[in-house]
Amino acid sequence: MCGIIGYIGPKVAYPILLTGLKRMEYRGYDSAGISTISIEDNQRAVNIVKKQGKVSNLENKQTELQGNLGLAHTRWATHGQPSELNSHPHFNDDKSLMLVHNGIIENYLTIKRNLEQRGYVFHTQTDTEVLTKLIDYYHKKCKQKLSTTLQNYEQKKDPLELALRAALHDVVGAYGIVLFHKDTNKLYAAKHGSPLVIGIGKNEHFVASDPAAFLDHTRRVLYLEDEDIAIIKENSYELKSLCSHNGECIKRKEDLVDWDITAVEKNGYEHFMLKEIMEQPQTLANCLAGRLDPQFNDIKFTLKLTLNFIKNIKRISIIACGTSSYAAMAGKFLIEKYLRIPTEVEVASEWRYKNPIISKDDLVIVISQSGETADTLAALKLAKQFGAKTFGIINVVGSTMSREVDSGIYIHAGPEICVASTKAFTAQVLCLNFLLIKLGKIRGDLTETQIQRMISNLLNTPELVKQSLNNIEQIKAAANLIKDKQSIFYLGRGINFATAKEGAIKIKEISYIHAEDFASGEMKHGPIALLEKGFPVVTFVNKNDPLYEKNLSSIQEAKARGAYIIVVADHIDSTLQSYADTILQVPKVPDYLQPLINTIPLQLLAYYTAKLRGCEIDQPKNLAKSVTVE
Ligand code: AGP
Ligand code: GLU
Repeated sequence: MCGIIGYIGPKVAYPILLTGLKRMEYRGYDSAGISTISIEDNQRAVNIVKKQGKVSNLENKQTELQGNLGLAHTRWATHGQPSELNSHPHFNDDKSLMLVHNGIIENYLTIKRNLEQRGYVFHTQTDTEVLTKLIDYYHKKCKQKLSTTLQNYEQKKDPLELALRAALHDVVGAYGIVLFHKDTNKLYAAKHGSPLVIGIGKNEHFVASDPAAFLDHTRRVLYLEDEDIAIIKENSYELKSLCSHNGECIKRKEDLVDWDITAVEKNGYEHFMLKEIMEQPQTLANCLAGRLDPQFNDIKFTLKLTLNFIKNIKRISIIACGTSSYAAMAGKFLIEKYLRIPTEVEVASEWRYKNPIISKDDLVIVISQSGETADTLAALKLAKQFGAKTFGIINVVGSTMSREVDSGIYIHAGPEICVASTKAFTAQVLCLNFLLIKLGKIRGDLTETQIQRMISNLLNTPELVKQSLNNIEQIKAAANLIKDKQSIFYLGRGINFATAKEGAIKIKEISYIHAEDFASGEMKHGPIALLEKGFPVVTFVNKNDPLYEKNLSSIQEAKARGAYIIVVADHIDSTLQSYADTILQVPKVPDYLQPLINTIPLQLLAYYTAKLRGCEIDQPKNLAKSVTVE
């Protein structure tokens, strides 16, 4: 959660920090703050402005925030309510040390008690203030120790670096932090479990939780890894490891960000969500680009697994959270149907704590848009500890998960800014199809003809999605009918159960209407009790579905109780017309593409319903884009 940006260089820091925060507001938006200092200023006065609410509250603060070194934060509160007081940067008593933090310090209460015994007083409810004061405590101690030491080489040591090391050794939890002290012209950054990336410019440096924050200035980046400490100056930076006590510098390969800043702008759309829904034909084309063999008989990506392993996979576990876990459910259905490999799907927060059964013959797949979700990352690490082979389906290039997995595919959906995931879901489903074909080919579970047919269908997805985006007027009308409802059911069978779950989470997240998803056959085992006249029920009918008749029966059951029926269907006929109040037509596709196609009208339904209800679509309440805390 939260967005962090720091700057050091010759320019005025404030506008750079403000723009950076705006780019990262999707990461947290309950309060924001900026602190700056002038490198040249002999007075070394630290400026600080904090505000509850949106980043825009920090506009027009140029006069209060002079200086060319600074850091900024947009918060997603974990400890202490969103308020000006609790917002970051946090500081020590004389405001000489400023710190911004992403994550949770789990043992903050113990540390707080210890510091209180040493005379520290706390003014906020945050774990971050505790970390700041812990660093301050060690800083004072280190300065004192270094000033009394007789050895010259000891005196050359940087007390703040030593303090940072000491404090981080005491801390349990997740953090991405950036700090500065008024007496040093440096930014310090460290991470464990939350993303941070350095931007390398000409005589200037940036550090942020997302490269989008500084992409106007530089594409040259260095992704920090867990336990890294970075000491950043105007013209250079040093990378060290928290694990090495000698403090020697580490060399690490820099990267170049290959996407453009327009990818994180709205391009004329009212909301990022609408833009991201509408750009799916393009994102899926990007996802397909270069993957398909010209002969249509293979998919190109590297599975770092031996032939023997692939032929003898005993089980696949797909671990993810939220929307990514619904893509996983679609994947399970397909892998079990076409490859007959037993496959489990579990949300990462459950899997990691259930003492999962993992063997060396298992393939563990993680799916994540951000590549930073704390629970999924922990599950990945656990799978690796037990010797399972791991594979990632990830969007954010260079993210922690992308670096941890044994092999994987980037979905190439581009930056997804709206908190509600749309284009990442469809690209994840497409990539699961790639994996299906690849494994099916190597294992011999799919015939050449099947593979060729599947590949040529996959190639059509951008066009098919374009057609699915066509129902706008009908969707708006349906949105108008459900906008004042208390509750909605989403029903689906087989692979469409995953799509029902995805439809329900979308409407919950952004329109705040209560929605529940059920396997259609389960409705009669309880939920049907809630149905009454006008109760909206959203479901799917695909003409060639072997369970076509049963799907119609479920609709009838609901209709008989007066439900208002919205059907996503690949045909319109008189039977369907007699059952459904609204039919949202999509193209006819085989089951392996149905979640991808059937989800499109449901994304739009959620969007237009939220819009009619006047909701904050891109930044729904209580949520943040990437959940880097437990
Ligand atoms: C999707 O609309 C949600 N905001 C959320 O469920 C999300 O999919 C989940 O937090 C997982 O995120 P990830 O894909 O980045 O790991
Ligand atoms: N735990 C910190 C807080 O509540 C940081 C939250 C964040 O990542 O924004 O302030």
